[in-house]
Amino acid sequence: MGLDIQEVSVRFGGLAALSDVSLSATEGAITGLIGPNGAGKTTLFNVVTGMQRPNAGTVRLDGRDLRGLSSYRRARLGLGRTFQRLELFGTLTVAENIGVAASIAQRGAIKARSRVIQEIQEELLEKLGLTPVADNRADTLPTGTGRIVELARTLATRPKVLLLDEPAAGQDTGETKRFSEVLHDLANDGLAILLVEHDMELVMNVCHSVVVLDYGRIICTGSPEEVRADPEVQAAYLGTVPAVATNA
Ligand SMILES: Nc1ncnc2c1ncn2[C@@H]1O[C@H](COP(=O)(O)OP(=O)(O)OP(=O)(O)O)[C@@H](O)[C@H]1O
Ligand SMILES: [Mg+2]
Repeated sequence: MGLDIQEVSVRFGGLAALSDVSLSATEGAITGLIGPNGAGKTTLFNVVTGMQRPNAGTVRLDGRDLRGLSSYRRARLGLGRTFQRLELFGTLTVAENIGVAASIAQRGAIKARSRVIQEIQEELLEKLGLTPVADNRADTLPTGTGRIVELARTLATRPKVLLLDEPAAGQDTGETKRFSEVLHDLANDGLAILLVEHDMELVMNVCHSVVVLDYGRIICTGSPEEVRADPEVQAAYLGTVPAVATNA
């Protein structure tokens, strides 16, 4: 169960943005997707969410082939995504941002729906520590908090699979630490999480396994320790992967 990507390729003219990429994100696990700028990470998210048609390959959610389904249909089936460029409804409050997403995702009698929406709002404000800023307009928030709101808004659609595109960009150290705890909790709740992130410390701390893309190809898959020790990965990053911490 979860997300299964098989042999996906995407070409932009002469550029092979993705070549034969296969990976899966299983429920209860956090899978890291890393790689240098331009490696194809966001393109892969676009393929999974139906925003980019692949030249080849399949994407399955809980075994179901998503071919031909719109982004909206995929979201309804349980795909949730946050964007590399923070995208919030700026003139709405934090609570309203969550409420709008919840209301789009919910169906049923209006009355029952508004109660459910309120419950989802309160639960997520609490869970993500956003209660103090619930009534603040989204466009007045620091970027780090905005990232948390975007996550809350995505969670309001009750996804099974969560695709996070550089969610820690703009967060300070305290926010990132809290964020990693939130990710752990979400995985424990059974979500499948695919995490694109340049913050290597975060990736190494939270991911159960890591996939490394370089020029559209997977060059390494393994545990955080295996990936960090891999010479090809180190070469791709030109030595910017932090050294393995030793307890000696
Ligand atoms: N719509 C497009 N048309 C043409 N080329 C594109 C398009 N989208 C992405 N590319 C190119 O495809 C390659 C992969 O881009 P992508 O945005 O997926 O990389 P990324 O791994 O997300 O990088 P970053 O870490 O900088 O976000 C890059 O060379 C990029 O310029
Ligand atoms: Mg990107």
